[in-house]
Amino acid sequence: MPTLHATDKALASLTADAIIVGIGKGKTRPLLTPGAQALDDLLDGKLPDALKVLSACGGEGEVTRIATLGAGPFPVVAAVGLGAPEGGGYSAESIRRAAGSAVRALHGRRSVLNALAYEANATEGSLDRIRAAGEGALLGTYRYLAHKSKTPPARDAPAQRVDLLVADAKDRALKAELRRIQAVFTAVAFTRDLVNAPPNDLYPAEFARRAEVAGKAAGLRIEILNEKALAKGRYGGVLAVGSGSDRKPRLVRMHHTPSVRAVCKIAIVGKGITFDSGGISIKPAAKMDEMKSDMAGAAAMVATACLIAELGLPVELIATIPMAENLPSGTAYRPADVVTFRNGKTAEITNTDAEGRVVLADAIARACEDEPDWLIETSTLTGAARIALGARTAGVMGSDDLRGRVIAASERSGEAMWAMPLPPELRKGIDSSVADLINANTDRLGGMLVGGHFLSEFVSEGTEWAHIDIAGPAFNSGSAWGYNPKGGTGVPIRTLLTLIEDLIADATVG
Ligand code: BES
Ligand code: MN
Ligand code: ZN
Repeated sequence: MPTLHATDKALASLTADAIIVGIGKGKTRPLLTPGAQALDDLLDGKLPDALKVLSACGGEGEVTRIATLGAGPFPVVAAVGLGAPEGGGYSAESIRRAAGSAVRALHGRRSVLNALAYEANATEGSLDRIRAAGEGALLGTYRYLAHKSKTPPARDAPAQRVDLLVADAKDRALKAELRRIQAVFTAVAFTRDLVNAPPNDLYPAEFARRAEVAGKAAGLRIEILNEKALAKGRYGGVLAVGSGSDRKPRLVRMHHTPSVRAVCKIAIVGKGITFDSGGISIKPAAKMDEMKSDMAGAAAMVATACLIAELGLPVELIATIPMAENLPSGTAYRPADVVTFRNGKTAEITNTDAEGRVVLADAIARACEDEPDWLIETSTLTGAARIALGARTAGVMGSDDLRGRVIAASERSGEAMWAMPLPPELRKGIDSSVADLINANTDRLGGMLVGGHFLSEFVSEGTEWAHIDIAGPAFNSGSAWGYNPKGGTGVPIRTLLTLIEDLIADATVG
């Protein structure tokens, strides 16, 4: 695992295989950030000319690599674009993306000095920018190599050590921040590994086992329900979806009890479909392979539970994670079946490809039995979320207060999310003539919102809840950008941690 450190030593006394500095997009030429200025002082003012001959302009995503040919202690400079400054500075997210882009462009260099968040004196938001520079750099080192027969050559290996250039490396808040960044990176990398894992390796029992190993290491109490326990517990939805596969479903419960008094109780739920073929309502072949990522919500919640325990946050947190494989077979659930859920409600299956809500209904009902103060669920629930918001923005539904808090947290974490309504007229679309509900309607209008409505039926009255549809941002099917690799991204872990910290801060003040 690459590690993050901080240093406040003079640039001239430091060494590293490469240095990252930020440049802004000016009207006529690139603007030097304080870190770039400090490097330029060391290079006798030659940086602007080097940038000019290489046509660097400081736009977002631009990385200009310069060999220093013996001038100064850094063999390579990566000048990375931050875009045009807004309100006199650069956003934390532009710094996070720049750090990721730069680190990816520096593969082959073992140690990297990151001067992106350097400021001689702390100003408003300094720590947010340090967080962004650290997270972006570590996240940019991620690679999924589990199934490569050869390890990549050293000239292509990601950095193993990142040092942040800061004004005061002894600052206590900075030290806590470095631990948080490293823990977030561990959680995101774990989630990316789970999402990228092929479905023949990561089936429900194996997913549950990996959750148990990680959870136990983090100090969580783990409970795994197998098929027998699921039947005994009347988890009709999880069993129905899992019935088409020889790899039987599971429900994992992960419990964090803080060593100090808990300020609130939080339930988290994530969709864990290890492969979604659509079942009898089978999907077309094109891009079906991407449906290995249909457990991204579950992976993020497993990692979040571990992260909250690792950081020792003063909340009681219980994760309820349904895991199943959705396949067609002679034992599969079928259209027209009626399923009875954990809480006694029933649904007529009109489309076996709307399986996420069927496993989540049981999980949400179970989570509500714990009477949480807050219930947060996330899932790659609908293709409609991608149609509405594209592949980089999650849709957030639920009760007004918690939905607003999720959006506010996302604005700080840098994970794009947008509040979505649950229009009452769309609820009628999932009435059934034979059961309480149908699981999917044929009308495609507002598909993301209909999914939200279905889930809301399983949230107990008065519980503050949020549903985050991550069908877009959980998996990057295009090429790498910023700190996001191809494949699993780790969304929405950073928002969940920020949200839980906010809930703790509010409960402590109020
Ligand atoms: N896992 C899919 C949603 C999805 C699609 C996620 C593409 C990521 C990328 C989900 O189970 C699904 O198939 N949903 C259906 C619902 C419909 C049948 C009501 C969909 O979106 O078409
Ligand atoms: Mn599906
Ligand atoms: Zn699915």
